[in-house]
Amino acid sequence: MVATQATDWERRYREGATGWERPGINPAFIAWRSDGTLTPCRILVPGCGRSVEPLLLAEAGFDVTVVDSAPSAIAAQQGRLSGLHVRAHVELGDLFAWEAPAPFDAVYDQTCLGALAPDLWPAYTGRLQRWLRPSGRLFAMFMQIGRETAGLPFHHCDLASMRTLFGDTAWQWPPSLPAQVPHPSGFTEQPVVLTRR
Ligand SMILES: C[S@@+](CC[C@H](N)C(=O)[O-])C[C@H]1O[C@@H](n2cnc3c(N)ncnc32)[C@H](O)[C@@H]1O
Repeated sequence: MVATQATDWERRYREGATGWERPGINPAFIAWRSDGTLTPCRILVPGCGRSVEPLLLAEAGFDVTVVDSAPSAIAAQQGRLSGLHVRAHVELGDLFAWEAPAPFDAVYDQTCLGALAPDLWPAYTGRLQRWLRPSGRLFAMFMQIGRETAGLPFHHCDLASMRTLFGDTAWQWPPSLPAQVPHPSGFTEQPVVLTRR
């Protein structure tokens, strides 16, 4: 387990304790793709897990980089992406040590921020800022649990706290937020697209 993790993600993958995984495609991802908000570009998926969205991005012509510290997750992504003639980079690494070769146009954060211990959030948002080029966009899913609950592999991303964390000097928020999407855990996720200033 890497030092920046309170949860042993690899153990969870091996034991099948993966309650955060969606059986299908995230509805917010589908909406962003179909309304033209998310179009082919150089994109990073941090804490990709075994999610299917990186494959869909690669198949749609995005230049995709996925990073995760769990070997099982990276093996799953490698297995899906390596046989295809697509632009994809699959990297095993700790997000707090991994360096982007060049800034990205977009980051797709699906339950990665919320999976980190809240005391790491300021450092993580600093890294998101560094990974994105100016005017690059963060496509984020903020997990909405309603309260902080012990024992879950993710944390409540209170929206007022998110506005402070992703403050106005570094990030531009949209005038309004789209509807929340259901999560298989029974909670919801708040999709939001933030622009790095
Ligand atoms: C809640 S899961 C979400 C996975 C995936 N995005 C999805 O939607 O299924 C969080 C993921 O972040 C990864 N992760 C957590 N801390 C990490 C770190 N410090 N560096 C790299 N990956 C990390 C875990 O291994 C896990 O795959």
